Amino acid sequence: MTTPRDILVTSALPYANGPIHIGHMVEYIQTDIWARFQKMRGHNCWYVCADDAHGTPIMLRARQEGISPEALIARMAEEHQADFAAFRIGFDNYHSTHSPENQHYSSLIYERNRDAGHIVKRTITQAYDPVEQMFLPDRFIKGECPKCGAADQYGDNCEACGASYSPAELKHPRSALSGAVPEQRESEHYFFRLGDFEELLKRWTRSGSLQKEVANKLDEWFAAGLQEWDISRDAPYFGFEIPDHPGKFFYVWLDAPIGYMASFQNLCDRTAGLDFEQFWGKDSVAELYHFIGKDIIYFHALFFPAMLHGAGFRMPSAIFAHGFLTVDGQKMSKSRGTFIKARTYLDHLNPEYLRYYFAAKLGAGVDDIDLNLEDFTARVNADLVGKVVNIASRSAGFLTKRFNGRLSGTLSEPELFAQLVRAGDSIANAYERREFSRAAREITALADLANQYIDGKAPWVIAKQAGRDAELQDICSMGINLFRVLIGYLSPILPGTAADSEAFLKIAPLTWDTIAEPLLDHEIAPFKPLMTRVDPKQVEAMLEASREDLSAEPAPLSKHLARDPIAKTVDFETFAKTDLRVALIREAQRIEGADKLLRLTLDLGGETRTVIAGIRSAYDPDELVGRLTVMVANLAPRKMRFGISEGMLLAAGPGGQDIFMLSPDAGAAPGMKVK
Ligand code: 2FM
Ligand code: ZN
Repeated sequence: MTTPRDILVTSALPYANGPIHIGHMVEYIQTDIWARFQKMRGHNCWYVCADDAHGTPIMLRARQEGISPEALIARMAEEHQADFAAFRIGFDNYHSTHSPENQHYSSLIYERNRDAGHIVKRTITQAYDPVEQMFLPDRFIKGECPKCGAADQYGDNCEACGASYSPAELKHPRSALSGAVPEQRESEHYFFRLGDFEELLKRWTRSGSLQKEVANKLDEWFAAGLQEWDISRDAPYFGFEIPDHPGKFFYVWLDAPIGYMASFQNLCDRTAGLDFEQFWGKDSVAELYHFIGKDIIYFHALFFPAMLHGAGFRMPSAIFAHGFLTVDGQKMSKSRGTFIKARTYLDHLNPEYLRYYFAAKLGAGVDDIDLNLEDFTARVNADLVGKVVNIASRSAGFLTKRFNGRLSGTLSEPELFAQLVRAGDSIANAYERREFSRAAREITALADLANQYIDGKAPWVIAKQAGRDAELQDICSMGINLFRVLIGYLSPILPGTAADSEAFLKIAPLTWDTIAEPLLDHEIAPFKPLMTRVDPKQVEAMLEASREDLSAEPAPLSKHLARDPIAKTVDFETFAKTDLRVALIREAQRIEGADKLLRLTLDLGGETRTVIAGIRSAYDPDELVGRLTVMVANLAPRKMRFGISEGMLLAAGPGGQDIFMLSPDAGAAPGMKVK
């Protein structure tokens, strides 16, 4: 046995202003497989993560929902962790960047860099929203593209022609929050002198531990020159105040990666014998790896290592970047239903399927991976259900019925068993190098051998022949032993199925070493199906539900940004055109396939309207019938997925169960105009 390695791994911290989707899951699944593999090998591997809880979008989203940022991030933390747990992401700790540990390390790292002269102060001019009274990040300014003239483009780049520019170049700029014309105002900002670390970063880049694509990217950035990095933001901001600078906050990207340290510190504080310095101290020999998406390499390969070094901490051993997820060959799309939230996936499909499919597609590079839904169904059914699980089901029935679940005392084909065991080194090597698609391929090739063995022996024929009991028991015991090796190899990818298999085999959790020990003269439990086939209908239902998620969602901030900003004021004439009427709810029905919508029949005093309203989570149809409410009666009919909606109910609230329909005063009658 080699000496156990000390390994700390992280996945990027998800923002606390939105749900986890299957695009995120590529990374968590990738990291989790790797961490589980290391643990199975007997190494001291720790996997930590946290919610990325700071920044302007989170502050604004909370404001939009009418709650505090703390309440928003608490709710998101719960939702995120429930999703991760359901996908069996085995974090050793899940923390938050809005935590005392993170404030401590962010301040410490800042102060040490400041004291060493790596932070400078400069006055900059920035767009300021006079109505919202805040400086505007680039994404919150919209206007006409200075290059092609396209309307409604963001302050940093144009979606029409792809040009990048600074917000000051936008023509007719407006604040996406209030619609006001931004002013240019001055403010003092703090900058981190990244250039001070150029030589160090170059050495680190060329040390050979980075992926080729990442190293090339860094070389491009070195060639372009390392710029000073603005690490401060003005109030109002949801984040940590900079020590000694009231009203100035750390930019979210300063404290986000420090969140890895904070989460680990939090774990150390409640784990005997786990020492923070041993992993993060300057002379640490522990391995430290950050799994990230290729879009955030700059932060992880330049800013973060430089700040760590400047503050007397060690730098990461390596960054492992991966590509993006496409679905059916295209960017995830809300209208196609391929923007699939983790929760929506879980409502319809077994998480083990996706873990396997992603593993079967993942290599060590930064290529994008495609979730082709037909291929997903075919592959899971063929490989996992058809090949691997099938070996157990073909063998277990006879053992239970004819031998009380008892396995033979010897292996009848030791060479075949040894062949599977010998393959372990190459499979381990594939896992170690993050070549999971190779691992999956090698394992399924072994499953083919096991199935060929069973096919060749045809136990179902032998079972019918008198006097061949011992032979039957041997064949089925061999089958079970081959299955056991395969599920051992697959367990980093399929932790749930592995746990169920261990219960079925009545064995302790497999480690990489114990895989090689055959199970002899041992009683197993009666077989229960370990995995069912993917039904294409489930996939279709998931896509349907994803489309529905879209139609019933309260418009998030980003949607306002994508459309025209909400006007700050509406002139009286425009408002006076709205025909608000008292409406009597005659009928209210659930809509099949839409769990957030109700179809209402509204009586306007002689005229009847059908309105589709997203209030199902707050109201039972039965309690609505007979009630009066207020509707916009002259809204143009809108075609929705479940029919045409001829008006809109007036309701308010953050959503979910808290939606409140307007109720007119007693004495109101259907059809009355509301003034
Ligand atoms: O890009 C993102 O989603 C960021 N929330 C990732 C942060 S990773 C780390 F730096 F915290
Ligand atoms: Zn343009």
